[in-house]
Amino acid sequence: MKEIMDVKLTARTAEPDMHKTGVLAIGLFSNAKGPDKLVKQLDRKLEGAIGRLIKIGDFKGKEGTGAVVYGDGRIGAKRVLLVGLGEKKKATLDTLRKAAAYAAKKSVEMKAKTLGLALHSAFGAKFDQAAMGQACAEGACFGSYRYDEFITENGNGRPASIKVDLIDSYDARTKELKAGVLRGAIVGRSQNYARTIANRPANVIYPETLAAEARKLARGSSALKCTVFNEKQMIEKGMGGVLAVGSGSEHRPRFIILKYTPPGGRTGAQPKIALVGKAITFDSGGISIKSANGMEEMKFDKTGGISVLATMKSIAELKLPVGVYGMIPSAENVPSGTSYRPGDIITTYSGKTVEIQNTDAEGRMILCDGLNYAVKQKCETVIDIATLTGSCLVALGRYMAGLMGNDEKLIKQLRKASEQSGEKVWPLPSGEEYAKEMKSKIADLKNTGSRYGGACTAAAFLGQFVGEAKWAHLDIAGVDMFQKATEFSAEGSTGFGVRLLTAYLTNLATDEN
Ligand code: BES
Ligand code: MN
Ligand code: ZN
Repeated sequence: MKEIMDVKLTARTAEPDMHKTGVLAIGLFSNAKGPDKLVKQLDRKLEGAIGRLIKIGDFKGKEGTGAVVYGDGRIGAKRVLLVGLGEKKKATLDTLRKAAAYAAKKSVEMKAKTLGLALHSAFGAKFDQAAMGQACAEGACFGSYRYDEFITENGNGRPASIKVDLIDSYDARTKELKAGVLRGAIVGRSQNYARTIANRPANVIYPETLAAEARKLARGSSALKCTVFNEKQMIEKGMGGVLAVGSGSEHRPRFIILKYTPPGGRTGAQPKIALVGKAITFDSGGISIKSANGMEEMKFDKTGGISVLATMKSIAELKLPVGVYGMIPSAENVPSGTSYRPGDIITTYSGKTVEIQNTDAEGRMILCDGLNYAVKQKCETVIDIATLTGSCLVALGRYMAGLMGNDEKLIKQLRKASEQSGEKVWPLPSGEEYAKEMKSKIADLKNTGSRYGGACTAAAFLGQFVGEAKWAHLDIAGVDMFQKATEFSAEGSTGFGVRLLTAYLTNLATDEN
């Protein structure tokens, strides 16, 4: 197995035209009145090459587009990459993040080993320098990523590592940028870690190996502790939901717990916040089997749990001053003679009984145990993240995750984190009417509702396992993976949730509210 691309990030003070690099990326708005200072400086040295390119109309500054001008020894960079930023008034921090991703992706394609980013300069003082540094670092990690650890041929077209430097000519600004770059590098690398584990197929990652990965992560950090319940321990605790879903597979289920204790915190202290992630390492549907078309994508049904895993890595490296639990119920959902069946009645960890109508509605069966376990650990705030329903994908498409819950303030905090992180969420309803559909005649609940509003009924099911806790639910069924590469990313896992949850927890640690 080959190592995944290593991204080395920092910020340094240099004149952009003098900086020695394989690629120098600069940003241009589509409606700019004329070239800004940086563009002018480079264009002069390049004897008008940038100006000619723009005049001919080969580059218009649209988002997701770019053009290359060759340095030819007249400047420090071998290539200048013009990156489109779209309309200036619409620009956000995510515009910058995406521009950095675009630049990093193109640089890897050109096999450049060094990338200088001067993209932030087009934004002037529109955003805080540290925030811009963070966005650029996150974007550079995101865009340079590709999943190729199983490609055995040599020279499949990328350098082993890429060195990314944010370039600014003022020391004071570089310093601020660098503080953000260091944070962004942690978040971005954690997100890429999530993508690698998520992209691994189900014959490589199954509950046992996922648990081993969590243990390995905790071994590498004094702030993280990992506990794993095996099947026997889950039987003793009565985690009937996870056990039922995992009952059909040779790969036995696990319940993975990561605990983050902040620097200076008591190791015995119980975190008040829990993240709970669905980690179905393969979802065939079980006895209620899915159709063959696209079933291979169901290796991504573990991405919620992996987002939790990688968020724990990210917050531990950031040394956030708030304790957090990460809980990852994990099972493989496959049909066999030992599988759970439609019609079965399962007693979940909470004591509530569930009539199984469809074994393909398995995510809620493992999450209800995870959520209830968090509540019984006295967590006051519980956030779950899961590729829970095809219905969420139908409702929102592939751009935004569904956001539901029982607490307006928590939902507001997550929406704010979403705006900061560029991982988009959209509120969907859940609650009483939907919960009513989940009532069974022969058990407390059933695991499916009617034909309609599937994302909402699934959430309403989960909401019945959180007691008095403040709870939010992220349905990431549409956003956890790209079926095709985009201008900003390779295909495969997106690592959705790592930036969002890290931003939420960072805010909690720094805001008064
Ligand atoms: N993992 C799937 C949801 C899913 C579908 C994720 C498509 C990503 C892409 C989930 O376990 C599932 O199968 N849900 C069913 C529930 C139904 C049987 C009530 C669904 O949404 O169809
Ligand atoms: Mn399913
Ligand atoms: Zn599933």
